[in-house]
Amino acid sequence: MAAAPPLHAAIKPLEWLLGDWYSTNGQGGFPTISPFKYGEKLQFHHVGQPNIQFSAYAWHLESKKPLHREIGFIRIKPGTNQVAWLGAQNLGLVEIEEGTVEEMTMHLESHTIGRLTFAKEPITKKIVRNFVRDDDTLKQIVYMRTSNTEEMTKHLEISYNKL
Ligand code: HEM
Repeated sequence: MAAAPPLHAAIKPLEWLLGDWYSTNGQGGFPTISPFKYGEKLQFHHVGQPNIQFSAYAWHLESKKPLHREIGFIRIKPGTNQVAWLGAQNLGLVEIEEGTVEEMTMHLESHTIGRLTFAKEPITKKIVRNFVRDDDTLKQIVYMRTSNTEEMTKHLEISYNKL
């Protein structure tokens, strides 16, 4: 296998995210749905370019059935702590979130969400994510607002370990 390319200097502030992360402790909920538990494999890779490619594949803990899936890229404005998350989700949503990276935390808020004309209701109006790394654990918390739940409310909380 070819040696990993050197990390592009622009994405050095995001180096703590890189690698393959795994969890079976995901907890989901929202006022309009039943609480649920899930597993997820989360990967952040680079190819020497000033971006990180991510994928997040979630599954049902008991049935192992695939659930939510996302792929995309993270970019950083060179020389700053300003980050952008460009994502596509399997249920018909594409989004751009922007925010900041500070040491081993990243805070992101969506400013653009596109959806298929035939995607399922309700419409996702806003997404906020927080990533925090503590030693060998990475935690992600996701809040959202939808067309029928106007308050920003937690949808997901999960902590991963390195595979
Ligand atoms: C940013 C990422 C995500 C967004 C924007 C999102 C959005 C949504 C929305 C809008 C709903 C419908 C809520 C309602 O009916 O009021 C929903 C439900 C749900 N989401 Fe997510 N979701 C995300 C990630 C995930 C992930 C990672 C999982 C992991 C398994 C997941 C599992 C579910 C489940 C199980 C439901 C309930 C489905 C149902 O009862 O029909 N979601 N999500």
